[in-house]
Amino acid sequence: MNCRRAMFSDLLEMQNCNLKNLAENYSYRYYLFHYLASPEMLEVAEVPGKQKICGYVMSQMEEKGNAKDIPHGHITSVSVLRTYRKLGLATTLMKMAERSMGEIYNSDHVILNVRESNMAAKHLYQKTLGFIVDERGIEYYNDGENSYTMKASTKREIWNHTSKAIQSKIDEEKQKKDQEANSSENNKTQKEGQSRSTGKGKKKR
Ligand SMILES: CC(C)(COP(=O)(O)OP(=O)(O)OC[C@H]1O[C@@H](n2cnc3c(N)ncnc32)[C@H](O)[C@@H]1OP(=O)(O)O)[C@@H](O)C(=O)NCCC(=O)NCCS
Repeated sequence: MNCRRAMFSDLLEMQNCNLKNLAENYSYRYYLFHYLASPEMLEVAEVPGKQKICGYVMSQMEEKGNAKDIPHGHITSVSVLRTYRKLGLATTLMKMAERSMGEIYNSDHVILNVRESNMAAKHLYQKTLGFIVDERGIEYYNDGENSYTMKASTKREIWNHTSKAIQSKIDEEKQKKDQEANSSENNKTQKEGQSRSTGKGKKKR
């Protein structure tokens, strides 16, 4: 999967991805506004060769109320299509968003809201990315569910974290390579043994 900055032509598919996954939906105009205002704050995951968007993160810098306000970003929405989950995509997209906030806007921290019942997202934010709960919003969502407002410094070191999903893929690949190397070593030894016993391979004098 290829994670990259969003392009204008991705906006419809981003909206589609959001409609399939979340109760919090936005008009196409909203995506367009975000794209025109700060294209560097929209990242997508694309299925290679298919030109299909399977995940996105949309974020923004909070407006400064006054000069003393600390610059900080806000994750507006993140989502990955069901078939492509647990592959580390949301982790990568979130890291990319945070990197843009830090590098382009010198953001100090990032905040987001998550439903109390959203186990997958809470794991992603707290366990994988190290967010902490800042506040609990009672009946924050339209359907009455409570929210957690979470916060993380954008100056923290998150780039070295490898998600378990990615790590297990790396381990799997390594195991496969080791097995291949072992079996080709075994074949070689077997062939050498056979040629010794049949006398094949010996130079005639
Ligand atoms: C939440 C969501 C974005 C995660 O996307 P993802 O690409 O599957 O996440 P990752 O593969 O990067 O996984 C990150 C971590 O979360 C864990 N995780 C993913 N899905 C999980 C689940 N259903 N339950 C528990 N943990 C889960 C992964 O194992 C991984 O943990 P690790 O770092 O300890 O290995 C995805 O489930 C989704 O799109 N959900 C619907 C939309 C949504 O809820 N958005 C968030 C709104 S606040």
